[in-house]
Amino acid sequence: MPKVMRVIAMTKKLFITFIVMFVLLTGLIGIMLIKDSGKDISKDTSVIENTPEATQVTTPEPTIDPESDPRFTSTDSVLIFANKKHKLPDGYVPSDLVSLTVATAYGDVQMKQEASDAITNMFSAANAEGVYPVVTTAYRSEDFQSQLYNGYVERDGQEAADTYSSRPGYSDHQTGLAADISCEANSYYLNQDFENTAEGQWLAQHAHEYGFVMRYPKDKQDITGYMYEPWHFRYIGVEEATALYNTDPNETMEEFYGIAGGNYAD
Ligand code: DAL
Ligand code: ZN
Repeated sequence: MPKVMRVIAMTKKLFITFIVMFVLLTGLIGIMLIKDSGKDISKDTSVIENTPEATQVTTPEPTIDPESDPRFTSTDSVLIFANKKHKLPDGYVPSDLVSLTVATAYGDVQMKQEASDAITNMFSAANAEGVYPVVTTAYRSEDFQSQLYNGYVERDGQEAADTYSSRPGYSDHQTGLAADISCEANSYYLNQDFENTAEGQWLAQHAHEYGFVMRYPKDKQDITGYMYEPWHFRYIGVEEATALYNTDPNETMEEFYGIAGGNYAD
């Protein structure tokens, strides 16, 4: 074969080889690409591990701040609240004071109408069981509380007076919803011996059924700000008083409602 012809034949061979290889190579790449596109990504750990965990979004329960809840600040509310951290509005006088019709030790005593009705029912029930509680004081004006408190400060000093008497404007008595109760067997005194009388025991067990709670229970001075007063009952309504009593007969309003208590801020 002449040299020219051999060169042409060689070139042809090379060209055909190149074409065959090109076709094989593109075919192989094509197959790989198709396989990859069907890959199950759930088995690819790099994908899983880089996926942030699903976060659960929950709507928070709305909570009422007792410090601004009108149930404890409104003068129309039966839960209007007074302690050493919560002063009543200046010069506050309840709108519907009435004279009590139950037994009192020292003449006319007043409370708000609803509390007066409740104490009448309570004393009737007590009397029916042969128990005879007697009210000493109930509503006290800011001026009267001032006279009482100043007298105690003069007699016992301010530190001692603050353990059993409210400063004017801070007294539960000014709400018209609180009553101090004693009995003949305790010579109408307001002291801790009252807890040993039939009247003291009956009230401790039954007052909540008529809407009253013992406002300053035993061993709660750090919370209420006052020493144990088994004679001081506060009207809050039957439903609330029963719920509080059922939580614990020694429960305070501060604990039950989550309201700040303890000593004066100053
Ligand atoms: N004895 C109660 C704390 C008052 O003075 O209101
Ligand atoms: Zn009292």
